[in-house]
Amino acid sequence: MLKPTVNFRAEPGGSLRGEARVPGDKSISHRSIMLGSIAEGVSHVTGFLDAEDCLATMNAFRAMGVKIVGPEEGRVTIHGVGLNGLKKATAPIDLGNSGTSMRLLSGLLAGQHFDTVLTGDNSLTRRPMKRVTEPLRRMGARIETSESGTAPLKIMGGNRLQGICYDMPVASAQVKSCLLLAGLYAEGKTCVREPAPTRDHTERMLAGFGYPISREGERICIHSGGMLKATDIDVPSDISSAAFFMVGAAIARDADVTLLHVGINPTRTGVIDILRLMGANVELNNERVIGGEPVADVRVCSSELRGIDIPPHLVPLAIDEFPALFVAAACAAGETRLGGAEELRVKESDRIQVMADGLVALGIDANPTLDGMVIRGGPFSGGSVDSHGDHRIAMAFSIAALRAGGPITIGDCENVNTSFPTFLKLAQGLGLNIAVQSGR
Ligand code: S3P
Repeated sequence: MLKPTVNFRAEPGGSLRGEARVPGDKSISHRSIMLGSIAEGVSHVTGFLDAEDCLATMNAFRAMGVKIVGPEEGRVTIHGVGLNGLKKATAPIDLGNSGTSMRLLSGLLAGQHFDTVLTGDNSLTRRPMKRVTEPLRRMGARIETSESGTAPLKIMGGNRLQGICYDMPVASAQVKSCLLLAGLYAEGKTCVREPAPTRDHTERMLAGFGYPISREGERICIHSGGMLKATDIDVPSDISSAAFFMVGAAIARDADVTLLHVGINPTRTGVIDILRLMGANVELNNERVIGGEPVADVRVCSSELRGIDIPPHLVPLAIDEFPALFVAAACAAGETRLGGAEELRVKESDRIQVMADGLVALGIDANPTLDGMVIRGGPFSGGSVDSHGDHRIAMAFSIAALRAGGPITIGDCENVNTSFPTFLKLAQGLGLNIAVQSGR
């Protein structure tokens, strides 16, 4: 029997107005559980993202013997067991759809004294893992993968890791974080050099837990032998979730939206820079620093967008926001060109192909390239698109309805729960006419 799927139906037109606080940052929430678990003492987290991906990380640490209470209204208490206090899980750990959990955990687990098997859903078990297993093996880790290098990953314990200096071939915060976490357990010093800056939440949070981490020229370095001291973490709202409403407000008529308490870490704000280059009206108000992360209230009003060539240095700083930005490009006058973004092909779906297919189905002239897309702005028709189980594709096409000529139905939207379970409620509250439509 076919499993019932969750589809969305978004009615055309309308506007977005008002204030909203989107849920906590996914990247920071994952890291709060990981570092809190290997710290000495009790850490308290507020603003935690209560969504499937972060719950997968939480369940992984529970399976390794860590007492974690919550989440309750975003509050989590973690009873840290110290760097060497994790225990062998009694079964393979299922990380669902979450690439961050798998890549960061493989680094953390490579230096343990026990074996672990990490697995995930159909999408996660197809995603590239050699980018982490290859450098980890150079450090002395023993990891078994499928023939093509994908999960399930069997990570063998009891190996003495050796620090390395690694020049990362891809700009990936997940690879960087994986190696820094392995570095906590490796003999000597572990350094990574990234080809372009990527999100630095791991570095900031390690420092917040009192663990020394240094920048040496272009390298980020960590020594083993220290300890993490429990701390309290206030997770800001996720700019990657806010991005859907930022784009929505920019493309809708008569819109004025303020997104409260949004994390504006400079390694994450590519979406704001790109929208501004396209002519969007984006204001940052009430800027402050909370627990080592910059935060602001982001106000976006209706804007006349124009097509641009997206500057390559902004690509890693907006890597998760391209589904939403492609919708902005489809509503802009003229052509928008993106290159240097081949990473989009190995996210939860092939975001270049899946977005291009959806845009074309809605009457937009969108041409995928190997590493990006060329989009000519034009009127959106109504129609049906498939999100291919990718949360960000589902939310991007929901927002497109604000400028569509007819209703948009979006297939396979269940995975919105991996990062933004309250999306429909918040979107409706701001004025989007959208509802769930069950189907098969
Ligand atoms: C993440 C890093 C990014 C991003 C992902 C979360 C993280 O992946 O796409 O959603 O939390 O470190 P890459 O580092 O693979 O680009």
